[in-house]
Amino acid sequence: MSTLLSPARAGTPVTGRAGEAIAALGDRARICDLYDADGSPVYHDICGTTGHEVREILDAAAPFEGPVLDLAAGSGRLTFPLLAAGRTVTALELSADMLGLLRDRIALAPAAVRERCDTVEADMSDFDLGRRYPLVLLGTTTISLLGEEDRPGLYRCVREHLAPGGRFLLTTVHVDPAADGTGESEIPVTGLSGRGYVMYEQWSPGAETRTVTVLPADTSGEGPVTVCTTTIGVLPADRLIAELEAAGFAIRSVTPVDSGGGRHHDVLLEAEAL
Ligand SMILES: C[S@@+](CC[C@H](N)C(=O)[O-])C[C@H]1O[C@@H](n2cnc3c(N)ncnc32)[C@H](O)[C@@H]1O
Repeated sequence: MSTLLSPARAGTPVTGRAGEAIAALGDRARICDLYDADGSPVYHDICGTTGHEVREILDAAAPFEGPVLDLAAGSGRLTFPLLAAGRTVTALELSADMLGLLRDRIALAPAAVRERCDTVEADMSDFDLGRRYPLVLLGTTTISLLGEEDRPGLYRCVREHLAPGGRFLLTTVHVDPAADGTGESEIPVTGLSGRGYVMYEQWSPGAETRTVTVLPADTSGEGPVTVCTTTIGVLPADRLIAELEAAGFAIRSVTPVDSGGGRHHDVLLEAEAL
């Protein structure tokens, strides 16, 4: 059973410039996980509707008609484009808070869209929906949130939910061994709401985890400041492919995802259960 608690939330201090920014806040800092009750609205504000990897996923999904199982659906960043493309979608998500945001968004959609979406609160490494799908999706490099001990459960569950000839589409990081390892980037971001944030990403090429920390751009004043953080495993494509093959999948395609110039590049894998 996996957990939403990242090491950062569980007590590991955030280091680097992110750590300095947190230290400067003193006891005003309220540290939370990026996907919990306090973090979910921030995640949705910053990432919840971005177009990253959407085109690649819709293109890869098109030949496999029928319902889609969207694993770790979050607030629906990939669910909604699939619904807009006319697909029927089951959105599965572990965080009740993220799922609440998704359900709120679904409730606002027209009836013709609402009736093509159902939601399930469940762990992607241990679920049983009692049905099969031509397409199972795990986007946003979210497989890296699962530890090594939980990934076999994911592979088993996906196999049990894939229709014959169906596809498991998933994205992961493509680690470029030549990338320079400056360790930490600091990116100003404006959320959907217009609020400004600073997102710190700490990752050195070769390291097994990266940590993302988000603070408001304006921390002046005296009140508490919500600081969201998550530590994510880095699961390079070649290792993931080897794991999938050992779990009985054949890799049918590997497609680069346009990363918009970020420090690491993602790839979309198309896997078929043998
Ligand atoms: C990077 S977000 C991606 C959300 C969404 N797919 C998107 O593209 O915005 C990762 C999501 O995985 C969820 N998650 C983490 N561990 C999970 C698990 N074991 N089972 C299901 N969902 C999980 C988190 O709550 C979070 O919503």
